[in-house]
Amino acid sequence: MFDRFEALPADALLGLIVAYRDDPNPQKVDLGVGVYRDEEGNTPIMSAIQKAAAKHLETEDSKTYIGPVGVAGFVDGIKSLVFGNGSPIVADNRIAAIQTPGGCGALRVGSELLNRDAQDLTVWVSDPTWANHEPLIGSAGLKIQSYPYFDKATGGVKFEQMDEQLAKLGPNDVVLLHGCCHNPTGADLSFEQWQQITARAEKQGFIPFVDIAYQGLGDGLEEDVKGFRYLAERVPELVLATSCSKNFGLYRERTGGLMVQTANATQATAIQTQIQDVARANYSMSPAYGGYLVEAVLQDDSLRQEWMTELDAMATRVKSLREGLVEKLAQRGVSKDFSFIREQKGMFSFLGISKEQVHELKDKYSIYMADSSRINVAGLSTSCLDYVADALTAVIDG
Ligand SMILES: Cc1ncc(COP(=O)(O)O)c(C=O)c1O
Repeated sequence: MFDRFEALPADALLGLIVAYRDDPNPQKVDLGVGVYRDEEGNTPIMSAIQKAAAKHLETEDSKTYIGPVGVAGFVDGIKSLVFGNGSPIVADNRIAAIQTPGGCGALRVGSELLNRDAQDLTVWVSDPTWANHEPLIGSAGLKIQSYPYFDKATGGVKFEQMDEQLAKLGPNDVVLLHGCCHNPTGADLSFEQWQQITARAEKQGFIPFVDIAYQGLGDGLEEDVKGFRYLAERVPELVLATSCSKNFGLYRERTGGLMVQTANATQATAIQTQIQDVARANYSMSPAYGGYLVEAVLQDDSLRQEWMTELDAMATRVKSLREGLVEKLAQRGVSKDFSFIREQKGMFSFLGISKEQVHELKDKYSIYMADSSRINVAGLSTSCLDYVADALTAVIDG
């Protein structure tokens, strides 16, 4: 039977990884893959995580199943990290939650939960959105549409157009929002815009589905979820997918959480059984290891402090690379205004150059990025900023 299957086209980003690996140019720069990198181009294990792992090795005494919720201390820790310490929504038991295999697992289980609703929901995603949103949500069976979001002219958000679209939605619509550090554009909603979206959600009755994969990598752990918290405190229901891949550096441990906020504790109890049932039908239960590490970091004051300091340093590095690139490009008098890169948040930015220019950067200068011209800012280093600014200026101004 397998002769009836065709090979799928290669994933563009994976192709870029191979091409970069095989490129002999010592000045090559990888701005393609979306992982945090330090000045030397490594994706380090955070020291707080290393310490938590050593402690865990000494204390773990069984490898038996941990149950459908995952590591309970992890789930509680993530709830307060996102909703805030002492959040009344948490205290009132209005949240159903499970640990998931990464943020992807949370997005998928959340989507399958929504697809169990008889109302035939439509999920609205930003234009553009992270490339994996559509496969994760669509393969759960939900319909997908997009709302206007990124403004190519300013590098910011087309908020008026976005709001016009949201004003047409109702209770059978779900609106997927990036909690912070929008991937792929870096263009985030301001706090005032979160307030307006909250008012829209209250008026129209659509369900927010918030994806928080970069908490702490924008303006700080608290600041990055300020808009989300404002929304959560006012709407009765929402779905939240969180990831520990980036802010705890646990990419390969597949550590995330799905949280479903309901109107009351009775509904949360029912939804808890539903999300556990979705997980059971997919992968039974989440891998535990990453959950134990995050739990250990969040519960121990000194590890937590160490982790926060490290995370802050990562965010500061990305910000200074943003500043540096904008400054170097301005010094060269490049004809395109790149100052928007400074305003954007998190690891990604769209350069807004053509596919031909992206290819020229790769072919002539060994600078690798997605065809959309999305760059991973953390892939830059202070030592390559001049080289990248020279190459960009040459490609743009000839
Ligand atoms: C916007 C967004 N959501 C979710 C994820 C999920 O990541 P993971 O499944 O690795 O935790 C990512 C990872 O790149 C992302 O960029």
